[in-house]
Amino acid sequence: MKKNKILVTGAAGYIGGTFAYEALCKGFEVLGIDNFINSDDTNIQLLKEKFPSRFQFAELNLADDPKGLKKVLKRFNPNFVLHFAGLKAVEESQKKPELYKKNNVGSTLNLLENMAPSSSLIFSSSATVYGANQQQPLSEDSPIQASSVYGLTKIESENLIQRYALTKDIKAICLRYFNPIGSHRDYLIVEDYLNNPNNIMPKLIKAVKSNNNKIYVYGSDYNTKDGTGERDYIHITDLVQGHIAAMQKVDNIQNTQFFNLGTGKSTSVLQLIETFNRVNNLNIEIEYMERRKGDVPICYANPFKANKELNWKANICLEQMCKDSWEATNA
Ligand code: WQD
Repeated sequence: MKKNKILVTGAAGYIGGTFAYEALCKGFEVLGIDNFINSDDTNIQLLKEKFPSRFQFAELNLADDPKGLKKVLKRFNPNFVLHFAGLKAVEESQKKPELYKKNNVGSTLNLLENMAPSSSLIFSSSATVYGANQQQPLSEDSPIQASSVYGLTKIESENLIQRYALTKDIKAICLRYFNPIGSHRDYLIVEDYLNNPNNIMPKLIKAVKSNNNKIYVYGSDYNTKDGTGERDYIHITDLVQGHIAAMQKVDNIQNTQFFNLGTGKSTSVLQLIETFNRVNNLNIEIEYMERRKGDVPICYANPFKANKELNWKANICLEQMCKDSWEATNA
């Protein structure tokens, strides 16, 4: 029997919503859940309109409603659980550690407690589990060391997943994202740039849309190619394809596997801003500020394991990422 039912947590968000859209385009049946803690229902409405027969939604707080979750899982009986739900602002996690622990780790625990062993888990983890690592690029066996509460919640979630995979015989893959940007080719799901964004791409967009046309660059004295932070930016479509590849692989793995989803290329903040301005014919100005707490100097992937074992490779270039990020907000 074809395995085509996917539970998507965090379906109202940028990454969860884009994945849900892509999976529905491919013919899967999707049940989305979200508690709208850091998103509104725009994406949910879009998905309901576009896929009335194959998309369902349940508003649910994963972290403190295990009974509600159990009911949804029993009724929908998914083949796959894709767990995107989570707060992800490094700086905010330092100020609100208990909220991050409860929301990010509590939701993973409730999922593991209530999901049937017959369904497989794909977890949205993060390169922040590697912390500030001298050795770059990062591979899956690089040392795990949190440098923020946010990173710690991802490590704790990965450890819980490993424990339950061993005791409940759940198959699980943890995908460690680097820096997702861009927008799906139909520009349906757009990263929120209005409501107090933390990440650089929505802040670049907000700089233009709010007419101050200025971006603060956090730190210009890092030991990097031009003094600004270096990251591995990956197009959201490549990232979503990585999840589809993981779904095709997860039933044939032993317990839990970990994969870095990155391009293997590092881009500095200045390079990103220059590319974004150039491909979109913009002229956002730069103002240098102090380093941001919790930031690491350099973070980029060695994606060899995912390339080989998932038969997946990121191939969309930085120019296209910058173009899609901007164009999607004007679609
Ligand atoms: C990128 C670079 C900043 C804003 C975060 C989280 C996590 C992860 C990816 C999934 C850094 C610089 C930023 C600004 C700037 N995703 N910057 N001015 O911190 O690498 O990672 O997103 O887990 O959510 O860890 O992403 O976009 O915030 O920062 O100079 O106004 O841009 O210093 O060098 P980050 P980011």
